[in-house]
Amino acid sequence: MGAGRARISASILDADLSNLAYAVRRVEKAGADRVHLDVMDGHFVPNLTFGAKTIKHLRPRTELPFDAHLMISEPGRYIEEYLDAGCDSITLHVEIEEAVEPTLRHIREAGRAAGLAVKPKTPLSALEPYAELLDIVMVMTVEPGFGGQSFMRDVAQDKLLPARDVLRHKAYGGEVHVDGGVNRETAEFVGAQGTDVLVVGSALFVKGRDMGREVRLIRALADEGYQFQLNDGRPPIPRDRMVRFTALPKHLAHELTDTIEAGGIPVIMLRSDGRMNPDGVRDYDLLVPASAEALVVERHGAARDDYDRRAEAWRETFTTAAESRSR
Ligand code: DX5
Ligand code: ZN
Repeated sequence: MGAGRARISASILDADLSNLAYAVRRVEKAGADRVHLDVMDGHFVPNLTFGAKTIKHLRPRTELPFDAHLMISEPGRYIEEYLDAGCDSITLHVEIEEAVEPTLRHIREAGRAAGLAVKPKTPLSALEPYAELLDIVMVMTVEPGFGGQSFMRDVAQDKLLPARDVLRHKAYGGEVHVDGGVNRETAEFVGAQGTDVLVVGSALFVKGRDMGREVRLIRALADEGYQFQLNDGRPPIPRDRMVRFTALPKHLAHELTDTIEAGGIPVIMLRSDGRMNPDGVRDYDLLVPASAEALVVERHGAARDDYDRRAEAWRETFTTAAESRSR
């Protein structure tokens, strides 16, 4: 997994389709963060690729998360098969005639990430009715159907940054994906729009090109774009960096963890090597994602001080009770 902020999701559409198992192992070895699976039914788009069965056979070939991009007219009809195939996220298109909402709910109820993609001509406002059901917004910067097309810079300019707002309900973990024409020439631009996940296809499968170097280059350029356009020149916070929010006795640590997680921010509770409590158990550290630290402090800063006071009172009560028992 890359150290920076941007994630690379490798599309295998332009790989040797007679050997997809080799393609997924190759992109994993090259350091991609995910595999992007372009499913086309020859109806929603004028091309036919592969379906749930192929994905199911590919699943055991790599540990990488599978992002399914369903360019099919009836995703609801086949959704169980894609869940069963082991897709970690499933993104369908908002332009389909079939009802979108039940399928998004189905994906989420299965504990996977649900996404909606918009074609270049479709406004972001088309996603608003489903905003609360989304973990992923995928902005197409080519007409869906084929790899190797030219990047639509105006579409990216219009949609990538505002796409974040569609995910405003998600305190943490919402992802803006860009798909189509992403390569070393366009990576910095999409990074500068705050894009989280860059789908890269043909640019990785260019003959004679070192795929690992391409992945590192595109990711670094995207983070560079983010750093200088959106982050005042400061390097982006690595996505998987965790910081300590506080340390508390176990029972209080559980309580505060539940409160923070109820707001959609993951917490890792770890026995700390810090303070020993009168019950013989050390405090527990509450670790939160560094990229969400400011929001956690905003929401729970005052509660943290209150918990610290409660912890102190509990320690005193425990010590006094123990002393009176030993007398
Ligand atoms: C196109 C697909 C894309 C495509 C990207 O419809 O959704 O994922 O494979 O390939 P490149 O990066 O070559 O545009
Ligand atoms: Zn795609």
